[in-house]
Amino acid sequence: MSKIFLDTSDITSINSWNSVISGVTTNPSILKKERGDLEEICKLMDGRHLSVESGGDFLQQAETLYKWLYPFSSGLAIKVPFLDTKGNHNLDIIRELTEAGITVNCTAMMSLSQIILASKAGAKFVSLFAGRIDDEGGDYKEVVKDCVTYLDNNFFDKGCELIVGSVRTVGNVLDCMKVGAHIVTIPPSVLQKMITHQYSIFTSNQFENDYITAEQLSGQRLGTSGI
Ligand code: E4P
Repeated sequence: MSKIFLDTSDITSINSWNSVISGVTTNPSILKKERGDLEEICKLMDGRHLSVESGGDFLQQAETLYKWLYPFSSGLAIKVPFLDTKGNHNLDIIRELTEAGITVNCTAMMSLSQIILASKAGAKFVSLFAGRIDDEGGDYKEVVKDCVTYLDNNFFDKGCELIVGSVRTVGNVLDCMKVGAHIVTIPPSVLQKMITHQYSIFTSNQFENDYITAEQLSGQRLGTSGI
């Protein structure tokens, strides 16, 4: 069964989806937009997964972030992009951090080949950006399916989970879950759309009105009368 993470740094959103989320993912763009408070989020997550991304010198920044935030949240994972700004891989950094006991979420990946290499380097979480694959006309459903098959066949006992991020629609979420994505990280705006259905609202109104009418007709309070 796919787990749901929330792709946000907004405390109010995290609180309002607490009953369904197993973790939270952030990135520098989210933090810039929402002005998230990482210490607060760590405390709120209380051991559940929280992915935080550094920038600049990834090795040094990742270690600094980990030392700062791990005391607040044992579920902390440090995101390391698969490629740096010049197109060089960060596989050695992933290996080094993993060997130092730091949980790594290798991020910003668009292909099965990248996922294979990141998982071999030791990342415990590997993040595939479905929406960005889709933006360029790629078949993200096939890529997700291939990644799940690869990880399930090769890492079933070593714990490397696929996080599908960059989802933009409810359809994206369902597509990824149907092909067995281990985790889908969903922005609050998309999760909100997952609850909405006009006929559910209509049905709730019908039952609420009929409840009141039935009470009036019976002259008794439903629930206390045993109906
Ligand atoms: C996932 O971990 C990322 O934070 C995120 O999903 C990126 O999404 P975007 O492509 O909408 O920026």
